Amino acid sequence: FYPTTNPDAKLLKVATDPTFIPFEIQRASGNLEGFDIDLMNAIAKVAGFAVQFESLPFDGMISTLQAKRVDAAISGITITAERLKTIAFSRPYFKAGLAIAVREDNQNIKDFNSLKGKKIAVQIGSTGADFAKTIPNAKISTFNSGPEFFQDLLNGNVDAVVSDAFATLYAIKNGKLQGIRVVADLLTEEYYGIATPKDSSHLDAINKGIATLLSNGTYKQIYQKWFNV
Ligand code: ARG
Repeated sequence: FYPTTNPDAKLLKVATDPTFIPFEIQRASGNLEGFDIDLMNAIAKVAGFAVQFESLPFDGMISTLQAKRVDAAISGITITAERLKTIAFSRPYFKAGLAIAVREDNQNIKDFNSLKGKKIAVQIGSTGADFAKTIPNAKISTFNSGPEFFQDLLNGNVDAVVSDAFATLYAIKNGKLQGIRVVADLLTEEYYGIATPKDSSHLDAINKGIATLLSNGTYKQIYQKWFNV
């Protein structure tokens, strides 16, 4: 399924898990869209390489990078010390953080302490999943994609979801998630980076590309396109 990394440095295979609105979404037509997709394409344009996206479950992304089956991954991936042991990251390109999501009528979950002993849904392999492990006596259910864990919350199978606040807030605001609310206080402060294998020869070009987009206004345009501010 995954050809080995193309020796021709001009074509970058970039993995993404397109279940993370508005960062990566797969349209019914099969087209990939989203903030990350636009950002990656814009970086490629200024850095002079072509991008070939490969859809991949989020959980397999780090090991796929480690095995160098792709050249990079963009997927709202949080830069963490743990991940930096096995892969590399670009400079941060987005400030994010985890938050608790509950059903609209839930009144008793309001912070970390109130999560103790509760049933919590998370995405496998995510920072939300790591965080959930620190909650005393929590019963954790893991899912492959965003739509699934929110469905479990709506069904009443779990009490809360721990996931990236910005993505959840966006989905609620745009009518993609009804009956769910995000608890105001963020649980963590995180930064997204573009991930690459450790000794990637592309990292420098990616970093320079991000710097160019930040200084020439393109980053801002892409931000406004998706977040409309
Ligand atoms: N930021 C979180 C993490 O790095 C979740 C990212 C989920 N992204 C996705 N495309 N499903 O673990």
